[in-house]
Amino acid sequence: MRILITGANGQVGTALRRTLTNPSYECLFTDRDELDMRDEDAVREKALSYKPQVVINCAAYTAVDKAESDTQACVEINQDAVRVLAEACTSIDARFIHISTDYVYHNDKNRPLLESDPTDPQSVYARTKLAGEKEALSACAKTTILRTSWVFGLEGGNFVRTMVRLGSERDELNVVSDQIGAPTFADDIARAILHVIETKDLKPGTYNYAGLGVASWYDFSKAIMETYGLTCTVNPIPTKLYPTPAARPHYSVLDLQKAQAGKFPFRHWRDALADFHARDATT
Ligand SMILES: NC(=O)c1ccc[n+]([C@@H]2O[C@H](COP(=O)([O-])OP(=O)(O)OC[C@H]3O[C@@H](n4cnc5c(N)ncnc54)[C@H](OP(=O)(O)O)[C@@H]3O)[C@@H](O)[C@H]2O)c1
Repeated sequence: MRILITGANGQVGTALRRTLTNPSYECLFTDRDELDMRDEDAVREKALSYKPQVVINCAAYTAVDKAESDTQACVEINQDAVRVLAEACTSIDARFIHISTDYVYHNDKNRPLLESDPTDPQSVYARTKLAGEKEALSACAKTTILRTSWVFGLEGGNFVRTMVRLGSERDELNVVSDQIGAPTFADDIARAILHVIETKDLKPGTYNYAGLGVASWYDFSKAIMETYGLTCTVNPIPTKLYPTPAARPHYSVLDLQKAQAGKFPFRHWRDALADFHARDATT
């Protein structure tokens, strides 16, 4: 089976390099240098010439705050390129696997959010991710979207890396405690993608996928300090004391029942964090 992967040097892309090891898979991992998602002709040409059976889009504009002032690039990567890739998948009858975000939800429901719940994106990043989902679903009937949240991977910058660095440098830290979600290990997303590839009869469409359990950023940072044996004191603060250019949802816990019914592999985010630490080459 030929598989084309975009954005392959990102958190999920590198986790996929470790996960797609089945010798019957012929994988073409591309990142910006090999395939710039802003070059529509190149994206189309790569898909049509390689003729993969599966395309996995890990490329995205993920700088959530920068996106507020860099809208055009964000639209081109998170929306326009997704349409081009999805259209190419239809032309070659390939399955399209795309990743989206919990930020498409933004509401006051204090219960886990269903795929069918209304979306209400409140930032440029979130709006372009939702638009990308719609483009993918309308351009390719064989699209599977995984909406995930709070991704931490072994490679690249992320919240765990930032907390470990700050926790080593400082005695005390303030972390937001009124944004609630679920941390998700990039390697677990890669396993979920593998499950999609291998489950031929899985219904296309949108699936929430995240670590089991619930946390605030404050809870997550305390767990990181404990896991890494750091003595830094973490203080809870409200979002209003940590303003950011882009709005974040206060509550974006994903209801995982649809993916659980589809037998996706899951584990608790605390177990995933322990695994991350055990495999962290920097410790
Ligand atoms: N990170 C999170 O917390 C989070 C949460 C929910 C959902 N997601 C979604 O999960 C998916 C994977 O995210 P991630 O955490 O793995 O992100 P990431 O580490 O930022 O990786 C994104 C990748 O896309 C590449 N990329 C950006 N612009 C490109 C372009 N024009 N052409 C080709 N490649 C380009 C980046 O390359 P460069 O390094 O060269 O820019 C990077 O390798 C994304 O769809 C994201 O929206 C992420």
